[in-house]
Amino acid sequence: MRIEKKAYRTIWFENNIVKIIDQTKLPHEFKIKDLNTVKDAINAIRIMEVRGAPLIGATAAYGLVLSIIEKNDLFFLKKSSEDLISSRPTAINLKWAVDRMMKKLSGVNEKDILKIALDEAKAIVEEDVSFCKNIGLSGLKIIEEIFNKKRDTVNILTHCNAGWLATIDWGTATSPIYHAHQKGIKVHVWVDETRPRNQGANLTSYELNEEGIPNTVITDNAGGILMQRGQVDICIVGTDRTLSNGDVCNKIGTYLKALSAKDNNIPFYVALPSSTIDWNIKDHKQIPIEERNSEELSHVEGVDENNEIKKVRIYPQKSKSLNLAFDVTPAKLVTGLITEKGICEASEKGLKGLFK
Ligand code: MRU
Repeated sequence: MRIEKKAYRTIWFENNIVKIIDQTKLPHEFKIKDLNTVKDAINAIRIMEVRGAPLIGATAAYGLVLSIIEKNDLFFLKKSSEDLISSRPTAINLKWAVDRMMKKLSGVNEKDILKIALDEAKAIVEEDVSFCKNIGLSGLKIIEEIFNKKRDTVNILTHCNAGWLATIDWGTATSPIYHAHQKGIKVHVWVDETRPRNQGANLTSYELNEEGIPNTVITDNAGGILMQRGQVDICIVGTDRTLSNGDVCNKIGTYLKALSAKDNNIPFYVALPSSTIDWNIKDHKQIPIEERNSEELSHVEGVDENNEIKKVRIYPQKSKSLNLAFDVTPAKLVTGLITEKGICEASEKGLKGLFK
């Protein structure tokens, strides 16, 4: 998608270097950063220069390529794969991408390994782009249906950033929105700010602005009243891990939106590529929920009147905090899953029907 009218992807490989858009600087500064080593890739995932389940997976795949360039040694590659997997715990795409790469590289000789690794990393990236595009085409039908009934702007609420910045291109939750906009359907997006890291306000609003899509940032607690007032037609969110029973793990606060949507009879959809499905875990209590640094809660960052980035503390130094990064929305609150293969019920039957 576009930034200042120029088309970008979130990650690419050039002259043995991985290039990323440093998302910790957005929306105030657009900076492309080089990842030269596997350590750089691990760090970029950990400190969230790249974030969002599919993009984390792609970065890990390229991280393994960097590991081979650095030292073509199986022991080093294995250690790199373990360090990558543990860099963030919740999004399943990370382990999925590393496992896929390691399976492809198993038994490959030293001479061919770099080319095979690079081809596989590129395949993961291209596949994500086409999956996200297909998610958009499936989700477009839902938005179109609402528009045809309403004959007026479709108001969509989204949480966190499941936009193109969280994937390689198109996004998951935003892909149907981009497709609808390109088809001339009038859409408006309610963007949850998504405390504490503000992925909604900093990233979703930014990328929608760049594509010329009307959007309004709201506090995380405002969705309920907007739904009661009839100002939300549909919710579409992304996910970091969806279980085979249809339970959806996503950014903290998603669950509360789903409860509110249920109470107000508003369709609540989750958009995901199949790389986000965890076929192994049966009980959501087994999902490792990331607990992040309390500084993300105690401090906020923004620009002052001189356009300088400042970070300030917002509550007493002595106060304790708990910063859980994700929650789980039970399948019963989810209207449907929008995938690259079409839309299905959030259930084992629904998912297995699409993904044999
Ligand atoms: O902590 P983040 O910013 O990596 O969390 C991102 C999300 O929760 C997204 O909704 C999810 O990864 C889906 S991205 C298409």
